Amino acid sequence: MSFSKKLKQFFTSKPKNNNWDGLIEAYKPWLPVTKKTPIITLKEGATPLIEIKSIANRIGKGVKVYAKYDGLNPTGSFKDRGMTMAISKAKEDGCEAVICASTGNTSASAAAYAKRGGMRAFVVIPDGYVAQGKLAQALVYGAEILAIKGNFDKALDIVRELSNKYPITLVNSVNPYRLQGQKTAAFEIIENLGNAPDWLCIPMGNAGNITAYWMGFEEYFYANKSKQLPRMMGFQASGSAPLVEGKSISNPETIATAIRIGNPVNKEKALLARESSKGKFSSVTDLEIINAYKILGKEEGIFCEPASAASVAGLLKLKNDVPKNSTIVCVLTGNGLKDPDCAINNNDSIFHTDVEPDMNSIIKKMGF
Ligand code: F0G
Repeated sequence: MSFSKKLKQFFTSKPKNNNWDGLIEAYKPWLPVTKKTPIITLKEGATPLIEIKSIANRIGKGVKVYAKYDGLNPTGSFKDRGMTMAISKAKEDGCEAVICASTGNTSASAAAYAKRGGMRAFVVIPDGYVAQGKLAQALVYGAEILAIKGNFDKALDIVRELSNKYPITLVNSVNPYRLQGQKTAAFEIIENLGNAPDWLCIPMGNAGNITAYWMGFEEYFYANKSKQLPRMMGFQASGSAPLVEGKSISNPETIATAIRIGNPVNKEKALLARESSKGKFSSVTDLEIINAYKILGKEEGIFCEPASAASVAGLLKLKNDVPKNSTIVCVLTGNGLKDPDCAINNNDSIFHTDVEPDMNSIIKKMGF
C-alpha cells in the first residue's frame, strides 16, 4: 500500500470501540434473539483480558495468568452481560416490571437495564449486607428497594414466589436468558487467547456464572473455535461454601458480601460443569481473599471487589496443582469501587493526615 493510501486509511478508520454495539449485536447468532427482539443495551461486554504477572510469578512453572476484568461493564459487574439479554427478552414479552433478589450487583444491573427499557425494577436485598456502591447505584437508577431482615437465600425464595403469582419478570439467574448473555464472556476469552485457557478460576455465589461460562466454552469448542475445554475451578468464601461442603449453609458469612449465599440455586448445573470439565471447587478464607485483593490493587493497578478476588486467592491456594506452562484466566466479576468500605479498611497505604500546607512539612512527611 502506498504511503498516501496508508495515511488516508489512518485518518478515516474509526477506533475499534466505536463499532461495539453491545454483546447481543456481537453474538446474535449464538443468542436466543430474533429480529423482533428490542435490544436494551448499555454496550456491555468486550471487557479486557489483562495479563497479571505478579500472580504468575508467585506460581512460577512458566504459567501465564490473565484477569478477565468484567468489573469494567457499564454498571461495574458481569451481571450486565446477563441483564441485557433478560431485559431485552422481558421487553419483547411486553413485561412492565422486573424483580430480583440480590447481594447488590444484580440489583444495580437489573435497575439500570430495566429503566433503560422503561420498566419498574423491584429489588429485594439483605438489609445491611449490600456494599455502599451497589446500594448507591440501585438508588440512582430508581429501583424500588425492599431491604429484608434476612439473607439472600430468603430474598430469593420470596421473589421466586412473587414472580409466580404476579405479572412481574424474575431476573435472577434462574431466568435462562441471564446465563445466555453471560456465556459471551467465555467467547471473548477464546477470541483473545486464540484458544480456551487450561484453567478458568471463578468465584461462585449462586453458581450461575460458572454455569454460563461452561456453556460458552462448550458451544465454542463444539463449533471448532477452540482446541480444548478448560478445567472449571470454582471458589467460595470459607464461611459461605455450600458447594465445597456439599450442604446448604443456613448462616453464610464472609467479607465478600456478593457471594454470601448458603443455598445456590444453580447448584446442580455447577456440579455438572465441575464434573464435565474435571474441575475442582475449593474455599478460600476472608484473609486469603483480602491478600489477593491487595496484590491486584498494589501490584497490578486492578481494583476489584472482594468476591472477585476469590478467584485469584483460589488460584494462589492451588498453586502446587497448576500444570507447567499452563494458561489460566481468573474472572474478576466486579469493580472495586462497588465496596469502598472494604477498600478503606483493607489496604497497606500510607495516609498522612493533618499535613501542614507548606513544602517543608510535606517533604518531611515524604521522608526526603
Ligand atoms: N462475583 C460478584 C461480584 C457477584 O456479585 C456475584 C453474584 C458473584 C461473583 C457470584 O456469581 O452468583 O453467578 O455464582 N452476585 C449476585 C448478586 C448474587 O445478587 O449480585 P454467581
